[in-house]
Amino acid sequence: MTIVDASPTKRFFVSMLTRDIALIDAILDLLDNCIDGILRKHKGVLNNNRPYEGYWAKIIATPELFSIIDNCGGIPKDIAEKSAFRLGRVDGELDSDLPTVGMYGIGMKRALFKMGKRSVVRSQHNGEAYDVKITPEWLSDDNSWQLQLQSTDDNLLQDGTYIIVTDLYEPIQVEFDLKQSDFLEDLEKEIARLFALIIKKGFTVYLNDMQVKPVSLDILYSSDFTISGIQPYAFRTIYSDVEIDVIVGFYRQLATVEEVDQDTDLPRVEVKAGWTVVCNDRIVVYQDRSIVTGWGLGNVPHYHPQFRTIAGVVQFTSNNSNNLPLRTTKRGIEMQSPTYLLALQYMQEGVKKFTYFTNKWKGREQETFIDFKQTEPQYAIQVVKAIPEERWQKVKRSDVEAKRFIPELPMPPKNDEKIRISFFRLSKEVEILGEFFFDDQNASPSEIGNHCFNDALAKAKAQ
Ligand SMILES: Nc1ncnc2c1ncn2[C@@H]1O[C@H](COP(=O)(O)OP(=O)(O)OP(=O)(O)O)[C@@H](O)[C@H]1O
Ligand SMILES: [Mg+2]
Repeated sequence: MTIVDASPTKRFFVSMLTRDIALIDAILDLLDNCIDGILRKHKGVLNNNRPYEGYWAKIIATPELFSIIDNCGGIPKDIAEKSAFRLGRVDGELDSDLPTVGMYGIGMKRALFKMGKRSVVRSQHNGEAYDVKITPEWLSDDNSWQLQLQSTDDNLLQDGTYIIVTDLYEPIQVEFDLKQSDFLEDLEKEIARLFALIIKKGFTVYLNDMQVKPVSLDILYSSDFTISGIQPYAFRTIYSDVEIDVIVGFYRQLATVEEVDQDTDLPRVEVKAGWTVVCNDRIVVYQDRSIVTGWGLGNVPHYHPQFRTIAGVVQFTSNNSNNLPLRTTKRGIEMQSPTYLLALQYMQEGVKKFTYFTNKWKGREQETFIDFKQTEPQYAIQVVKAIPEERWQKVKRSDVEAKRFIPELPMPPKNDEKIRISFFRLSKEVEILGEFFFDDQNASPSEIGNHCFNDALAKAKAQ
């Protein structure tokens, strides 16, 4: 019997590993590791409002080098020796009691391999610092699958990890060059979205020395839940180890018919409508208005500018990140997951309350503005927590215990149906009437139309 060599070549392995991951996702993986580091440091106990306060990550990306430094606790030396540099997780049970996102044991290495041929990972845990170097020689040596870990006296100021990648591949150099690519702007936007919750909870991210500002996830609510008014819909349950929170409502007052009509490719008002999906504090889907989040599915209408004021957040939290409805890239939702399908049912129930509301008030949106005046914006997940216990209703389900809050939204009085009139006229003629009624040839066409109608109606009633 002879032995046949079936071992992988490193070049092939590395190219396969990095081929399907976008550069942006590879870098975001490094930020995920920082957050996981904080969670491990605190053993998952993060119960105040700003548990990430004082922690930061600083990214530098230029055509010459990429680096990321954090103060998130560092990689314990024994973990570095045993598993952190392995390509794939050794211990499936690792962190099973913490809400971390790391799952595969590949993110850090893949990011380094993706960007360049030479990297140094310096990490310091409990004051003990060491370096692990990856060189071009190692990358092309099929026989060596081991790396050297070297202790160093060159300590970091705080426990943390400092990764530097040089010998960047040419396409990466282009992406990191502001003159040649929008990549760094996209990266900033992506960090502002994905890490919005974590940044709101105290974490700071710098990209080339600029602090990244989180996107808003506010929703309108009124602290008085006892009366009917503009309030969001909410749902809560725990399903197969995953805490699910759903909240949907308005983030601004209704869009008037005129505003919707004037909708062009470049809306003057920023639209923040749609569903945002959060898994263990990371935003994995942002302001989605597609079938993925239930728009145009079953009896929920397709998204339309009339619904541009509706926004919702669905949050999944679990110590077992394998149970989260995440795609393998961690940046999209696994639609077939039973956990997601359960949430989707209530996301749809909730969103329908608000599409129905906009339909009912169509053409008379201004009449609702008084109700909107009673509300204030608040961070969506905070609103779920503000709903008093007695306002929740139990949801009848055989599989799980669940509860929901169904708002009593104001409806237009019955027998008071309004209809909308619209027609086209020559602008020259409209100007004549503007001059005639208001001494202003630029008076708004709807004001003029309204005046003509009232005029004619008064005459008809006087007959
Ligand atoms: N910035 C960091 N701070 C603390 N520990 C880190 C950091 N980066 C990496 N680690 C350690 O190195 C290990 C390997 O990281 P890597 O990103 O390769 O895999 P993972 O996070 O376990 O899984 P995934 O592939 O899903 O990201 C982590 O499990 C963690 O123990
Ligand atoms: Mg990771």
